[in-house]
Amino acid sequence: MCDLGHKHEHYGFLVDVPEIRQLIDDTRRLTRDIAETSARVEALRPAFATLLAADTWLPEKYGEPDLKSGMGGGIGQYALYRAEDGSLCLFSLVIPPGSQTPIHDHLAWGLIGVYRGIQDETVYRRLDDGHDESKAQLEVARRQTVKRGEFYTLLPPLDDIHYVKTVSDTPSISIHLLANDTACVTRHRFDAATGVVTPFRSGYSNAKCPQSAAR
Ligand SMILES: [Fe+2]
Repeated sequence: MCDLGHKHEHYGFLVDVPEIRQLIDDTRRLTRDIAETSARVEALRPAFATLLAADTWLPEKYGEPDLKSGMGGGIGQYALYRAEDGSLCLFSLVIPPGSQTPIHDHLAWGLIGVYRGIQDETVYRRLDDGHDESKAQLEVARRQTVKRGEFYTLLPPLDDIHYVKTVSDTPSISIHLLANDTACVTRHRFDAATGVVTPFRSGYSNAKCPQSAAR
């Protein structure tokens, strides 16, 4: 009973508001109805834009930096919704001014948009064939500035490797809808200069990962 209750605290709607329920409902429906990933992500754009445009649904505590973060740099990663089967999650990522994420991948399709502040995103393309899991040869594919209400899509392996940096004077908050349990999946961080690839799990600031998670 204790274990079950404990688990439920960390899954489902960690922030239970109509705006998030609507987006998750729309995502479930479009995932059921549209088999092709890029068409599904395209169809999700209006619903995701609606969430980004709505002003009052994100609790203040999930828009603040986390000094104990698994990402480093005071970067907070807060689960807002998590499917128990690891098929979908929504989270906020809070990056203090001047901080940046490591170069990392996501390993799932999704949409990412800025809710507060301004981020610079640098996207890499991989030049090697990926057969060596410990090495990657990267080159910058593009850079873009992402402002409030703007968003982009992830369609791995296309555009799946990037880092983001806050360029506003205030922390940036981005909202991520991804088709995995992103913070608990074993992903990769990349050193573009040396080519070294390191497995990592970022973890959530407000929810636990299953001990054996490697989805
Ligand atoms: Fe990312």
